[in-house]
Amino acid sequence: MERILITSAIPYINGIKHLGNLVGSQLPSDVYARYMRARGHEVMHICATDAHGPPAEIAAQKAGKPVAAYCAEMWAVQKDLSDRFGLGFDHFGRSSSQRNHSLTQHFAGQLAAAGLIRAVSERQVYSPTDGRFLPDRYIEGTCPNCGYESARGDQCENCTKQLEPTELIDPRSAISGATDLEVRETTHLYLRQSAMAERLEHWIQTRTDWPILTTSIALKWLRDGDGLQDRGITRDLDWGIPVKKGTEPWPGMEGKVFYVWFDAPIEYIAATAEWADATGQDDAAWLRWWRTDRGAEDVRYVQFMGKDNVPFHTLSFPVTILGSGEPWKLVDYIKAFNYLTYQGGQFSTSQGRGVFMDQALEVQPADVWRWWLMANVPESSDSAFTWEAFQQGVNKDLSAVLGNFVSRVTKFCRARFGEVVPEGGAYGPAEAEASAAIDTRLRAYEAAMEAMEFRKAAGELRAIWVLGNEYLQTAAPWAVFKADPDRSAAILRFALNLIALYAAISAPFLPFTAQKLQTALNLETQRWPGTAADALAELAGGHSFQVPDNLFAKITDDERDAWQARFAGKRAEAGAA
Ligand code: 2FM
Ligand code: ZN
Repeated sequence: MERILITSAIPYINGIKHLGNLVGSQLPSDVYARYMRARGHEVMHICATDAHGPPAEIAAQKAGKPVAAYCAEMWAVQKDLSDRFGLGFDHFGRSSSQRNHSLTQHFAGQLAAAGLIRAVSERQVYSPTDGRFLPDRYIEGTCPNCGYESARGDQCENCTKQLEPTELIDPRSAISGATDLEVRETTHLYLRQSAMAERLEHWIQTRTDWPILTTSIALKWLRDGDGLQDRGITRDLDWGIPVKKGTEPWPGMEGKVFYVWFDAPIEYIAATAEWADATGQDDAAWLRWWRTDRGAEDVRYVQFMGKDNVPFHTLSFPVTILGSGEPWKLVDYIKAFNYLTYQGGQFSTSQGRGVFMDQALEVQPADVWRWWLMANVPESSDSAFTWEAFQQGVNKDLSAVLGNFVSRVTKFCRARFGEVVPEGGAYGPAEAEASAAIDTRLRAYEAAMEAMEFRKAAGELRAIWVLGNEYLQTAAPWAVFKADPDRSAAILRFALNLIALYAAISAPFLPFTAQKLQTALNLETQRWPGTAADALAELAGGHSFQVPDNLFAKITDDERDAWQARFAGKRAEAGAA
């Protein structure tokens, strides 16, 4: 048994997330966490909302609410959606928590003591129209790297380059659109990332098991141009974590807050502390996940995120961790994702384009989305959501294969033998053959899950469902029933055992459906199968079950067209910045 710490990139608080966000981090991280738990490992699965920074302030302004109240409301909305999608985090925290305030200030104090922070008097964009400095996302303009016209002051969404607001061409205020911007003096703290460049490069080079997508992005930012730049970690804003050196004031930094990207990843740690607080445990309970001097030396730490987050997790956050000089746990494996596109364009929060988590659940249940998204997860390249592909995938895999199998087996059994696993007959060559084929697929499924190759894993799972259908079609219990009811009984016993096996192995992808099957089969626990032959002999004759309701409804062409039309435009109330 291993101990596995899993964190998912924490979504910005500003509005409901779209399906591209969901499949780019939280959903695969949940599938992985559920799988690892099912295999008996001890798992800590953490997520939170990213509460600070201009996106939160701008969204609150648009909603006409004080920012703290807006964030509390949106946290509840996001938490509810997360539950309804079956995202089983141990804790869904908030980066504005007291724990994160303390830890962020603690890290800053440690970094300062290590000589890794310097104060810089710098010229920053000031907007007389808005009466304030305009950091990061408060300012928009053209990217100096790729020419994208809606680049934000902190990062270009198009080419992922991390930017300083003063680098933007033709800058404008994101609040008022004002272009009469001036540059004024202000003092900020800089994290001396450059001083850590060699250590980081060595660390990244020795992560030989990392996926290429992750390593190549990290090395690109380490080596390109002028190499790793020092990074401003404070801002002239009201909303955020006040700049302090541990618990001490920081002279000259009064009224300033830490930059959102400094405190956000620290929330992974803080949220684990929040979990301990919420479950009435002491500090040892969360330190054993995070401090290698307090029991975390054997923890395997896996992070999930979209590719635009990779520079922050391979460079900035490790600088914080390594630079602290304390034995905090560094990430062991980063699983990064490409983008999901929507009907040939981009999903976009700011443009209200695509399907958002709340809307998705209005048209189909969570498991249906979970399945399609994971079967098409943008792993080795971007992948495309279209309503046609969604309809096809759902109808084929879920309705025609898995749902149909469960329905045919349970209903036929009820009609001939009642709602109980039939006792007669014995397994023969057909069952041995099916078991062997399933066993091979099952091992391939496990290997893909261990390797976090989710698209492949979904393919193996689908193949196991298909094997069941093929077995049933060939064995045809309805055809042999009259002449040989014992044979028919054995086939149905095997098929009902297959449903139990499906419940167990489909649970990471389809937790709600797995629960329904488990209930229908009166199973107390979901045990991960050892060999298929053993697992398929577990439910003995005489065990009762109930025919479950139809698991998946076929998506009709009319429904598909209606949804396509409904989600073609811009979502007005996306509430995004
Ligand atoms: O890109 C995003 O949605 C960020 N809010 C992710 C932050 S991940 C981490 F650093 F906490
Ligand atoms: Zn760019």
